[in-house]
Amino acid sequence: MRYFRKMTGERLYLSPVNEDDAGIYARWMNDEAVAVNFGQYPYTVSSKNELKWLFELDEGIQRYAIVLLDGDVMIGVVSLQNIDHRNRNAFIGIFIGEAEHRNRGYGAEAVRLILNYGFNTHNLNNIMLSVHADNRAAIACYKKAGFKEAGRRSEWVFKDGRYIDKIYMEMLEREFNKR
Ligand SMILES: CC(C)(COP(=O)(O)OP(=O)(O)OC[C@H]1O[C@@H](n2cnc3c(N)ncnc32)[C@H](O)[C@@H]1OP(=O)(O)O)[C@@H](O)C(=O)NCCC(=O)NCCS
Repeated sequence: MRYFRKMTGERLYLSPVNEDDAGIYARWMNDEAVAVNFGQYPYTVSSKNELKWLFELDEGIQRYAIVLLDGDVMIGVVSLQNIDHRNRNAFIGIFIGEAEHRNRGYGAEAVRLILNYGFNTHNLNNIMLSVHADNRAAIACYKKAGFKEAGRRSEWVFKDGRYIDKIYMEMLEREFNKR
């Protein structure tokens, strides 16, 4: 069995990542559309070794493959990271690897599943994320999932020869469970 249905939504489920997918992840980390926004573009990713961060989990990280229910196709990764149980907060990160799978609502569905897991299994109170200000699809996806802007850092990332702001977005447990 390559994937396990740990959290199941309408069209997809979240499964522990599988190291046999290292080659697929390496391809995605070399795809500019994914890597630029995911912060991996300045680095060389050529082998399983350089993808260790994807497979290394500890108490502060929960990372899941996003898998379509239809055909068990793995389309990306979503993580809950920097989990702080004392203060009950964490960050999330996500990417959908293939362009053909983006803008079809899978991102928002995966985000809702990991939020539900964070709030209602891990008893977190505040989950936040950061996104480059020019990443309009990601911002639209996060707003759709219920995130609100919480602040911004000016000229934070150097990209294509210019500086881009970084936007912080957050959601509280009570806001999520009211929706
Ligand atoms: C960000 C990402 C995970 C979103 O996943 P997704 O499955 O494409 O997201 P969704 O389909 O749920 O939502 C995307 C929304 O953006 C909208 N959108 C797409 N391009 C847009 C643009 N240029 N301007 C404004 N909105 C845009 C889509 O129409 C859609 O909204 P809708 O459902 O209301 O029509 C995915 O695009 C991705 O992996 N991108 C590359 C890596 C990345 O940026 N990761 C996030 C780093 S913070």
